[in-house]
Amino acid sequence: PDLSTIQGIPDFDAAARNYMNVSAYTYYRNGAAGEWSYRNNLESFGRVRWRPRVFVDIMDVESTLPTKILGYNYSVPFFIAPAARAGYANPEGEKSLVRAAEAENVLYVTSFFSSIPMDEIIAAKTNGSNSTFHSFQQLYVDNNDTVVQQRLDRIAAAGQKAIFLTVDSAANGVRTRANRYQVGSADDSLTLFTWARYRKIANMTSLPVVPKGIQSVEDAKLAVENGAPAIYLSNHGGRQLDFSPSPFEVALEIYNEAPEIFKQIEVYADGGVRYGTDVLKMLALGVRAVGIGRPFMYANCYGVDGVRKAMQTLRNEVLNDAGNLGVPNVQNVSSSVLDLKYMATN
Ligand code: FNR
Repeated sequence: PDLSTIQGIPDFDAAARNYMNVSAYTYYRNGAAGEWSYRNNLESFGRVRWRPRVFVDIMDVESTLPTKILGYNYSVPFFIAPAARAGYANPEGEKSLVRAAEAENVLYVTSFFSSIPMDEIIAAKTNGSNSTFHSFQQLYVDNNDTVVQQRLDRIAAAGQKAIFLTVDSAANGVRTRANRYQVGSADDSLTLFTWARYRKIANMTSLPVVPKGIQSVEDAKLAVENGAPAIYLSNHGGRQLDFSPSPFEVALEIYNEAPEIFKQIEVYADGGVRYGTDVLKMLALGVRAVGIGRPFMYANCYGVDGVRKAMQTLRNEVLNDAGNLGVPNVQNVSSSVLDLKYMATN
């Protein structure tokens, strides 16, 4: 369909389903096994109602959208999560993702399993590796330190500013849906990872190394104890372990049991974020910025224009929702706007 007919983020899924060949679409869409976690990522936001406030001065809310992520400035508190094989949606692959991100000043995180090499993706930015638009790199590791060191050095040399080390993929995900179409599962990998190894890897580079895929308050605390500069709550879009909790539920667990973590380090989260209200619910718990995976991959069927439209759509929703909620400052959403009693009973 014409891009002008797209009204919201979920519309990109429907458009991609029509446009892409069935194997490629299925690779993006797939969740692990029976896909309970995939569905729960989307649905857990629905268990929390708002407590909107009225007569709040929201005139300056737009000026509060820009967000610092690890010290770098971006226009909004959401970003492109690392997702493999952008070439399935568009022959330009990751180039249109990074160009759209640069045009909108939205953080772009390159997947380890990108369709085109990292250096070519960075070269697609205005001024290439000297660009003032900063992107981050996702990384998988195995137990070969020589290879890990080479990868870390290449990432730093390419100009990426931080590393998101994926830790939720100690084994392959059960990709039943994708296997039916023989599309494999190139975004998962064997990761040998203990906290001692995390410290070792973090010491092998000058870049910040952020564990991506934290799924419990215990591991969030261990990440802080082991010197992580930030943590990234994720269940890999429900693609690894079925019945893993949604990142919104994990954020809630941290909020209830160790809320100080949100002050000690930056916390990011992704999984099922499709609406402005989803973004604001995460921020209200203390999350700094939220990642979005599938929707931007689907939007890439339309190239730069589609990805930019997805970003603009979500940005506008966040602004309108904040206004109707009576939130004057998106950087500082009070958790009192959340009604958590349904969450507890579901
Ligand atoms: C992913 N994800 C992912 N994560 C990662 O660390 N490295 C990777 O290579 C990939 N690849 C990948 C491919 C595809 C097609 C998808 C859908 C996802 C997970 C991704 O970073 C993110 O955690 C989820 O996509 C977030 O969930 P939503 O927004 O897709 O619901």
